[in-house]
Amino acid sequence: MPFPTTRMRRMRRTGALRGLVRETQLDAGDFVYPLFVTHGTDRREPIEAMPGISRLTIDHVVAEAAEAVALGIPALMLFGIPDHKDEEGSSAWDEEGVVQLAIRAIKDAHPELLVIPDLCLCEYTSHGHCGVLRAGPDGLPSVDNDATVELLARTAITYAQAGADMIAPSDMMDGRVGLLRAELDEAGFPDLAIMAHSAKFASAYYGPFREAAGSTPAFGDRRSYQMDPANGDEAVREALLDVQEGADLVLVKPALPYLDVIRRVKDATGMPVATYNVSGEYAMVKAAAAAGYIDERAVVIETLTSIRRAGADVVITYHAKDAARWLSEME
Ligand code: PBG
Ligand code: ZN
Repeated sequence: MPFPTTRMRRMRRTGALRGLVRETQLDAGDFVYPLFVTHGTDRREPIEAMPGISRLTIDHVVAEAAEAVALGIPALMLFGIPDHKDEEGSSAWDEEGVVQLAIRAIKDAHPELLVIPDLCLCEYTSHGHCGVLRAGPDGLPSVDNDATVELLARTAITYAQAGADMIAPSDMMDGRVGLLRAELDEAGFPDLAIMAHSAKFASAYYGPFREAAGSTPAFGDRRSYQMDPANGDEAVREALLDVQEGADLVLVKPALPYLDVIRRVKDATGMPVATYNVSGEYAMVKAAAAAGYIDERAVVIETLTSIRRAGADVVITYHAKDAARWLSEME
């Protein structure tokens, strides 16, 4: 006797049936497109490991903003590449810094586009760590959590004044979400949202980004403040803490090796969850596609769909423009 046709198989027979019961929708409206902003004018410096992505001067950033709007991408994330780095990362809170100027320029040209500056010091410090250093108990330099949080808050205020819609602290210092919320409220920015990098893992997938941002730590690594890739319970605890401190969205980073964490954080918090499909994830897809080993378009759509299915409401991805274009062609 043949096996009877299952309900599942019946509903897979045509595209119309599959569409009718599809559980996860992939939409450009859920993408955030990251950009690297540098000083000067009319320069695009390609990043070798990330084909299609460049360090951009502000005029080019504004051009990218127009493209994002045309493609239905609602938000940009900004990373600054300053021309001056020092021990403290003082360019981060410069009112005329690259990110502050870029926020103003984007908001002038496209007020409806959401601008989300990354908030961290690693792109601005000469040593490449995410905070300021002091001698630890063993005499070796380590990141000074509380001093760093103060500097982050100072930086956040300058982003708010420039017109940012949301800030995304990616430093992983303790207590920064609570302090940021309090200082932003006090400075008159109660509506500025916080997308907290709650579970940011000490990942090898950040390699191409650090090349792009010139933010590879000069010594040591980030394992004393970023999370151990082996820990899922801890990620949930970090997310719950950030929610308690006032985070509006909680973020898991990277995305693909941590899909289980995305799902757990979503279930445990019930909050909007964002994730960052990082530079190394992008570089692998681009390299395999360039070699002709995979179908880039199909792999990107499948990957982003899997990230959404895992529970991410918001996906920060370097594929955003391509994916938005492909999705509109598939309609
Ligand atoms: C650090 C930061 C990192 C990324 C963005 N901000 C990681 C790091 O260097 O530790 C990585 C993003 C990517 O790889 O695309 N604040
Ligand atoms: Zn950092």
